[in-house]
Amino acid sequence: MTNIQKCGVIGVGFVGATCAYTLAVSGLFSDLVLVDMNRDKAIGEAADINHGVAFSKPCRVVAGDYADLAECGLIIIAAGANQKPGESRLELLGRNKGILSSVIAQLTAVNREAILLVVSNPVDVLTCLAQQLSGFPAGRVLGSGTVLDTARLKYLLGQRLGVDSRNVHAFIIGEHGDSELAVWSSANISGADLDDYCRIAGITKPADELSRIYEHVRDAAYQIIDSKGATYYGIGMAVRRIAEAIVRNEHSVLPITSMIYGHYGVDGICLGVPTIVGRNGAEAVLDIPLSEEELAQLQRSANTMREMIDKLDG
Ligand code: LAC
Repeated sequence: MTNIQKCGVIGVGFVGATCAYTLAVSGLFSDLVLVDMNRDKAIGEAADINHGVAFSKPCRVVAGDYADLAECGLIIIAAGANQKPGESRLELLGRNKGILSSVIAQLTAVNREAILLVVSNPVDVLTCLAQQLSGFPAGRVLGSGTVLDTARLKYLLGQRLGVDSRNVHAFIIGEHGDSELAVWSSANISGADLDDYCRIAGITKPADELSRIYEHVRDAAYQIIDSKGATYYGIGMAVRRIAEAIVRNEHSVLPITSMIYGHYGVDGICLGVPTIVGRNGAEAVLDIPLSEEELAQLQRSANTMREMIDKLDG
């Protein structure tokens, strides 16, 4: 029997360790089990986080092996290489598919009930692979998708427009990577049309400005990797938010990635699109309205994913 208050984190490099930290301080879990090929690293990360628990809420953080994940209701998969400067997420696939296969084989030997949340890149392709290899129901295998990209968009728009980013309603959808797109057609500031709001904010060329903001979002990880070698705080906070929606059964709309069957003309691949997230994982994919151009861009992003997956199968 799994328990949703117990969470496993597989792979505690920069991203996994930061997720473990955000999850420990979230107060959502009674137990966190950290698993890494480098057991000493997992022991050190667990100790470091445990030393702050007295400032937070009770949470037992332990370093373990796969057998210790048997009772975890949620498993975060953050194992794998991360991008080097100038490298795309898709270029990681060669290295990370073998790591993911080994993780899924060892995990499913001890636990076939958990919800899997894939964070390693390329996240959409690896989520698809995790679902195929685990044989878990599609709703129980999700990836962080474009949740972080959407938060980056909200942050940048909020800054530019002088409004709380939580009042910016807009999505980045598609691949978590170079082919993603911004859904401008329905973007709004708490109901106020985005173009109208841009005028109020004195932006004379909204189309140019919005396209610069989109490019900034799309290329944000490249810039951060150039500057500090890796990204981990943003994704750690995004993972905490997804975990919260699952554990608290919130039915929140988040652009996670999961297997899509027949939405937006996409079938049998994983892509980040607005999805209801709750105790059952990815509960329903929403069909939000898209302009013709946005739909065409989403389908191009889907084709890129399809090509990657076909290469894996071939
Ligand atoms: C990023 C990594 C998580 O976008 O892909 O920061």
